[in-house]
Amino acid sequence: MASYELVSFQTLGDERGSLIAIEKGYNVPFDIKRVYYIFDTKKGVQRGFHAHKNLEQIAIAVKGSCSFVLDDGNQREEKILDNPNQGLYIEGLIWREMKNFSEDCVLVVLASEHYDESDYIRDYNKFLEVIK
Ligand code: TYD
Repeated sequence: MASYELVSFQTLGDERGSLIAIEKGYNVPFDIKRVYYIFDTKKGVQRGFHAHKNLEQIAIAVKGSCSFVLDDGNQREEKILDNPNQGLYIEGLIWREMKNFSEDCVLVVLASEHYDESDYIRDYNKFLEVIK
């Protein structure tokens, strides 16, 4: 099983500004074991170029914008993240590439597992083999 989808978070706001809360069981379907964020990304940089064997993630551009290229082995699709009230949920064997980072982009990623290099597939041909 592998899938991805854009999800919306409710923005709680008042005259002071906006706030979004992320809580397991309400708007995140997995136990969050790890949070990391990508920022200060240099112009023209592309990141990712990997798939995970066993990981659920939600990526949120809490500031600025970037785009994800998602590839399930059959087709590629691009999703743009440009609003803190949207998240990209990815689970299973999906090849992902990230690009078009705005200078101010802060990309927060919530993950269901601790960092484990052995969970990565960093070779596209191997990815195609594994999903066969
Ligand atoms: P990398 O996988 O290259 O990032 P991206 O997928 O965004 O291109 O990770 C960069 C470095 O950070 C690499 O040495 C692995 C390390 N890293 C951790 O130690 N913990 C983590 O949770 C992540 C995501 C990466």
